[in-house]
Amino acid sequence: MLVSGKSFRTIWMSDEATVRIIDQRRLPWSFDLLDLHTVAGVAHAICDMAVRGAGLIGAAAGYGMVLASREAATMDELELLAASLVQTRPTAVNLNWAVQRQLAVIRAGSFDQRVEVARREADRIANEDAAACESIGRHGLEIIRRIAASKPGQVVNILTHCNAGWLAFVDHGSATAPIYAAHAAGIPIHVWVDETRPRNQGARLTAWELGQQGVPHTIIADNTGGHLMQHGLADLVITGADRVTRCGDVANKIGTYLKALAARDNDVPFYVALPSSTFDATLRDGVREIPIEQRDAGEVTHMEGMAADGRLQTVQITSAGSPAVNYGFDVTPARLITSLITEQGVCAADEAAILAMHPGLG
Ligand code: MRU
Repeated sequence: MLVSGKSFRTIWMSDEATVRIIDQRRLPWSFDLLDLHTVAGVAHAICDMAVRGAGLIGAAAGYGMVLASREAATMDELELLAASLVQTRPTAVNLNWAVQRQLAVIRAGSFDQRVEVARREADRIANEDAAACESIGRHGLEIIRRIAASKPGQVVNILTHCNAGWLAFVDHGSATAPIYAAHAAGIPIHVWVDETRPRNQGARLTAWELGQQGVPHTIIADNTGGHLMQHGLADLVITGADRVTRCGDVANKIGTYLKALAARDNDVPFYVALPSSTFDATLRDGVREIPIEQRDAGEVTHMEGMAADGRLQTVQITSAGSPAVNYGFDVTPARLITSLITEQGVCAADEAAILAMHPGLG
């Protein structure tokens, strides 16, 4: 996608030993690239959210395994490095999916060829992610087209939560892919962007990337969505996902569930966009089974922003001494979801429909 009119992906190898990423901790104030040379560096970038979002975490893990292959002298060492990547963040299933995919192709070949094999597979993982998101855009476009046709001459208002944009993937994004496709098709759209406390991925990242592509949008405080829906100001919701069970329960950024409840109460369709790499076919009941990451309480008690003099500053926004807790994700039960949008098409959030459209999930 475009940054100041120039096309970028979120991750690539700038040479055989260097993974280059966009440092998302500095956006929207500063667009910086960061070079990662070690597995520990990739793991730190994932933990610290320099790279984040399910698809991009998967791609970063894929490239991290290229560096792991360079560092490891034996298969045992490689497996230890793989484990160090897997334990960085628990909820997004793409992380483990990409690491296991790399281990499988490396084990299937000669250990001497591990670096070349891992590099080819990492590029495949990244390219597939970008292609899947593009395809999600094509399928989601038809949904927006239908809603636009039902209100001729009026703007279609789409609400989204967190950042399921191209910054959270390799390109295009999941929830944003239909938005970008509709904008490119000339459908008049406007996006309500949930700020998404505590890390503000909506206010900082989604708003920035929509602005870079020229998509009309407005940032709202997290609790605004219900009010907008009651007053007919949101025609549909599209969110991303970090893990989806075989029965269609969706783990996504904390606060997603409340938006789904408000959408159901107001008959606003609620869509979840995901590449099929985000399904976890081993799980059925998302509320009971999906591990929910708890992050540092400091992300709740403190906020980062840019001061008038252009310096990045962190300030405390809570009463000193009051405890805080920071659940990173919640689970939206399948019954609240209108449809899932994947690279294969649009399907109901239930086991039969998911498996019929994605037979590889088994
Ligand atoms: O904690 P993050 O920023 O990695 O959160 C993950 C997300 O980006 C969102 O939950 C998003 O909606 C999922 S789509 C990749």
